Amino acid sequence: MGNGIIDSNLSAILVIFGGTGDLTNRKLMPALYNLVLDQLLPEHFTVVSVGRRDKTEEDYKNDIYDSIKKHSRNKIDDTIWKKLQAMIHYYQFDFTNLEGYEELKDYLDQLDKTADTGGNRVFYLAVAPEYFETIVQGLQNSDMAAKSGAWSRLIIEKPFGKDLKTARKLNNKILEVFQERDIYRIDHYLGKEMIQNIMVLRFCNSIFESIWNNKFIDNIQISLTEKLGVGTRGGYYEHSGAMRDMIQNHIIQILSLVAMEPPINLKTDSIRTEKQKVLEAMEDITPEFLRDNVVFGQYGSGVIDGTPVIGYREELNVPKASGTETFVALKLHINNFRWAGTPFYIRTGKRLGKSSAEIVVQFKDLPNVLYFKDNHIQEPNLLVLRIQPNVGVFFQFNTKDFSSYNGIVPTQMDTSSFKPNQGNTPEAYERLIYDILRGDATLFSRWDEVEAAWTIADQLIEYREQKKHTFPNYDSGSMGPVRAFELLAKDGRKWWHI
Ligand code: BG6
Repeated sequence: MGNGIIDSNLSAILVIFGGTGDLTNRKLMPALYNLVLDQLLPEHFTVVSVGRRDKTEEDYKNDIYDSIKKHSRNKIDDTIWKKLQAMIHYYQFDFTNLEGYEELKDYLDQLDKTADTGGNRVFYLAVAPEYFETIVQGLQNSDMAAKSGAWSRLIIEKPFGKDLKTARKLNNKILEVFQERDIYRIDHYLGKEMIQNIMVLRFCNSIFESIWNNKFIDNIQISLTEKLGVGTRGGYYEHSGAMRDMIQNHIIQILSLVAMEPPINLKTDSIRTEKQKVLEAMEDITPEFLRDNVVFGQYGSGVIDGTPVIGYREELNVPKASGTETFVALKLHINNFRWAGTPFYIRTGKRLGKSSAEIVVQFKDLPNVLYFKDNHIQEPNLLVLRIQPNVGVFFQFNTKDFSSYNGIVPTQMDTSSFKPNQGNTPEAYERLIYDILRGDATLFSRWDEVEAAWTIADQLIEYREQKKHTFPNYDSGSMGPVRAFELLAKDGRKWWHI
């Protein structure tokens, strides 16, 4: 992030719908605190937390103070807190009551005068997805987003719809009120350092970019694996499954960044356009494709880090005969000039033996005519982009084994280090809020990307729903169903666990 206060023309009121909710307490307020600390907020900046609960402003601020104390990466300092608390206002309002928006509008207009915020607004929907449309309707009815000479932005958390149809409906509603360039669809994976590093590694290093194609790369593996189960989120997860929870958004975003062509410049739209083209080039999803290339799984009980854990069907708010997938593995082809013939293997799941997010690029073998004859196994060159919990780059290459006459050994260079805070943390939100205020939407998803991602995901979800599964089909603590290993084995490959 930059240094110093950002341009004072960017003054704004941040209106948080869901001001007493979990996201606000655990992520948004600690992020705002650290932005104040780092002097990254505009000089004229105010936060209006909209919540249903009956609280005085003082009580609200006390609660926020406790949350920041608990969740902020920096220890709370009273001078900084004083600055932030002076910016915060609590506005009690049931946002399902469409009548009340006029009053909120008057309140914000009034605040503009005292806070000198110039009419600019950021509306943050930190609420359950079923309320997204209602709030947008309220903003529309009251004309709250349309102020001449000022800007209004809308921030919306995932999930953006539950399929293409509902996502389109939501999008059309939003477009009645906001322009595409003012809509910030959050995918917190894009806030992670190594995800932002994908483009830098590819486009700032001739050794990588010159061989980043089907002539040199055998296959690419993207694995987002978690030891965690669904915990208390069973109610949500039952309607989401791994397809909607991880593939439709985080994984498809990563895939686009790994496979895209170099953009013509670093402008938001240039990058998004290249990402979008990757999805357009994806191989058609036919019934044969689905049968051969997709594996769904659901965790049974098992042991994680020495502790016995229950199966998915025993989790809170999950039906005993649930058919929801907690694991997906699939093979994809991107049928463009760069990638035709190089498969992408994707895998994500809960309650697996390892928590990690990694991209493994396996390069093609050299001909077995010189060193790799006579049963000498050739270890491939591997480039691993470690997203979390280790962050950095790993590279494997072959060198002479000095301890033997003519042996070859794989040598491994690893620049990564353990950084536990790469998750869905306040830190990621600092970056995202900072970008929203500056009007930089690069780390957010554009509608056509979301649309293309749903088009792919919907076909897989429909197949999963039609098919009979024998669930559970993997033990907690394992690395997923046997068929996920067979998916690669039948191509003469394996999942890399580096
Ligand atoms: C969220 C999903 O989007 O991402 C969760 O809803 C998942 O189910 C989480 O656990 C993973 O994010 P991270 O940053 O912890 O890898």
